[in-house]
Amino acid sequence: MQLDRIRFQSYKDKVISAQQAALYFKDKMTVGTSGFTKAGDSKAVLPAFAERAKSETIAITLITGASLGQTTDTDLANNNALYKRMPFQSDASLRKKINEGTILYIDQHLSETAELLENKHLPKIDIAVIEATYIDENGNVIPTTSVGNSATFAHLADKIIIEINTSIPLEFKGIHDVYTSKSYPNRAVLNITATDSRIGQDFISIDPKKVVGIVFTEILDSPAKPTERDPKTAAIANHLLEFFENEIKEGRLTNSLMPLQAGIGKVANAVMSGFAKSNFENLVMYSEVLQDSTFELIDSGKMSFASASSITVSENCYKNILENFDFYKDKIVLRPQTISNSAEVIRRLGVIAINTAIEFDIYGNVNSTHISGTKMMNGIGGSGDFARNGYLSIFVTQSSSKEGNIISHVLPMVSHVDHTEHDVDILITEQGVADLRGLAPRERAKVIIENCVHPEYKEELLDYFNRACARGGHTPHLLEEAFKLNLRFIETGSMKK
Ligand code: COA
Repeated sequence: MQLDRIRFQSYKDKVISAQQAALYFKDKMTVGTSGFTKAGDSKAVLPAFAERAKSETIAITLITGASLGQTTDTDLANNNALYKRMPFQSDASLRKKINEGTILYIDQHLSETAELLENKHLPKIDIAVIEATYIDENGNVIPTTSVGNSATFAHLADKIIIEINTSIPLEFKGIHDVYTSKSYPNRAVLNITATDSRIGQDFISIDPKKVVGIVFTEILDSPAKPTERDPKTAAIANHLLEFFENEIKEGRLTNSLMPLQAGIGKVANAVMSGFAKSNFENLVMYSEVLQDSTFELIDSGKMSFASASSITVSENCYKNILENFDFYKDKIVLRPQTISNSAEVIRRLGVIAINTAIEFDIYGNVNSTHISGTKMMNGIGGSGDFARNGYLSIFVTQSSSKEGNIISHVLPMVSHVDHTEHDVDILITEQGVADLRGLAPRERAKVIIENCVHPEYKEELLDYFNRACARGGHTPHLLEEAFKLNLRFIETGSMKK
């Protein structure tokens, strides 16, 4: 039965166990694996390698699409199987090792990893591990729930291991649009003029000579955690919907808006779910992840098409997708992350980018990645790809957090900048909206402090701003006090005065 999924005659004798496959890994190798925000990752070979590393001194550089599922990154990190990791992760154990400095981490724009590899700015891929729905008659791989960087890994690797996941229905063939650009200077235009444009093939081409093994698994993707709307996320979502309604009134948008991109997580999901009860219609998505809210919007008839690089949904949502796949199939497409996150396409389509910040400052610079300026949280992911190139770049976050509001998410100066003021149009907290378009730094600060800051911190930030203005400058600061809230938090456990 399983062998039905290998339709290329000369691969039939290549089936090996995950443990045998993991023996191809050698110390200091660079391995590229499929997997994008938990979807379509290696669920047999990488875990088998992590197990092997328990009793051997062996560590690799691991490059993925984005974060992995199950406990894979945890196990790899805890068994010292990683020397270097890129371009994104969201795993607590790996994060700890990264922040201890025992695993090196490169936090990259998700659109760029494949390009850096193709142009030899990164080490050559020794082995690629690619999850597949099945292998067709010509030896091509039909991907599963993500495309990520898999086509590039397969193209560049010396050896390829294919991991066929029998839990993925064969009907998945057709939802992918795989396109890899020619090398510089022969690059062509990416002819995507609408979210549903298709420019590639619905499979990944593989050189059969590189395939050293085929492994079977039936493990499902790790589900996304179902997200509950809480008062803060609901307030943020409402502010955003009101903002869009006003844009329509002002004639800058129609009630179909522009293609939407939404970051992952509870705020983004709450915001997107809010559209279901709105007057907007014929919405489309050009994003990197299709989440529960995407399918809710398709169900409610509000969204007509969604393009991304992966499907990362809760268990219930996944069950619903499988049961009603015929209904969804012509309404979604999965692309390589170089295409889902392409600057050229995002700018052409006029994408509205909605991402979550850890914190922002009174001038609109955004920190998405570092706690207290030093500790890595997850990574920039695709937020930079979309924020820099979008038609509107929106960042949302809560104004304060933790019991007693001891952390302010609006600061005089962010201690790490991922998105500069030049890339940020709109900031939203549960307190309100700061529309920064057309505002100079001194105007921006007033609007941000007035509309987005938690009441506990308003007076202090206004006082900082006024004293900084008295000293002068285009972007007034008191450098000796710019990080005083962070320092107070380190010293007293609270940012409050
Ligand atoms: N000091 C200490 N802790 C701080 C802090 C500070 N200065 N600022 C924030 N924190 C804490 C918060 O209190 C919170 O802790 P908790 O989880 O214990 O409550 C945590 O940092 C941030 O978590 P939260 O606000 O719950 O974040 P989130 O789940 O909404 O995720 C990002 C926010 C920014 C981490 C997440 O969206 C991300 O990784 N973004 C980058 C990638 C991206 O944008 N991709 C977009 C395309 S998918």
